[in-house]
Amino acid sequence: MIPILRTKAALREAVLGWKRVGETLGVVPTMGALHAGHMSLVEAAKADCDRVIVTIFVNPKQFNSASDLENYPRTEVADAEKLAPFAVDAIYAPGPEQIYPEGFATTVSVTGLTEGLCGAHRPGHFDGVTTVVSKLFLQTLADRAYFGEKDYQQLQVVTRMARDLDIPCEVIGCPTVREEDGLALSSRNMLLPPETRAAAPALNRVMRQMAERLLDDESFGPVRAQAEAALREAGFSEVEYLELRAADGLAPLTRPDRPARLLAAAWLGGVRLIDNIAVG
Ligand code: PAF
Repeated sequence: MIPILRTKAALREAVLGWKRVGETLGVVPTMGALHAGHMSLVEAAKADCDRVIVTIFVNPKQFNSASDLENYPRTEVADAEKLAPFAVDAIYAPGPEQIYPEGFATTVSVTGLTEGLCGAHRPGHFDGVTTVVSKLFLQTLADRAYFGEKDYQQLQVVTRMARDLDIPCEVIGCPTVREEDGLALSSRNMLLPPETRAAAPALNRVMRQMAERLLDDESFGPVRAQAEAALREAGFSEVEYLELRAADGLAPLTRPDRPARLLAAAWLGGVRLIDNIAVG
């Protein structure tokens, strides 16, 4: 059984024991509801580091809707079972008082990178992410932290945050893991009503078609409009954003004249799906 640490004191004791003998520590921060995407992060951490901790904390500060927070899947027993074969050294599953003790009054906020895409549609979301992730980095004293490229903007924001604050934890991005039909793995997929599941891979399919057309030098405006129409046709109720951005720094682009990323958020069956792919 993998030990489940509930307090920062218990966490610190374990970590200091490892550090004392010179072992490196990798952390995989999660909100639970673990799937194969998380396991790929655990595998990357296990390959690089002597010790690996998975954190499970559904962070209230990064939800901008009470119902989204309430509906977020919580599956700790199943999560621990899924992690057992990977022999991680500990699960850190703190109570809210370990992260936000009474009187907690600090926000860690990254400007610029957080302003568009998910940042524009989920006010306060990235402040919640950077506040909790900086705390997890400092509580775990991890040498490396593993994040999925699926949340591409988050990966960029957290990398900037650690650099700007001189937190000595290297942020490592790992490729998105997908279902065979192309749907990016996400804890939210389990919230999709069964009758909408077949439509979900349209998001990735439409984005791949869009990327090909942009690489063929077609104009962004019409290509984007047709992609949005195709998503509505497939059953998506709303396309929040569908944008081409510089892969590094996320500057808005209309043609992939440097390493670029196509990023999207769209609603299907009351569930917000996000995806992104490299273009060129
Ligand atoms: O990607 C997530 O699951 C969360 O945003 C994270 C990084 C664990 C912070 O709560």
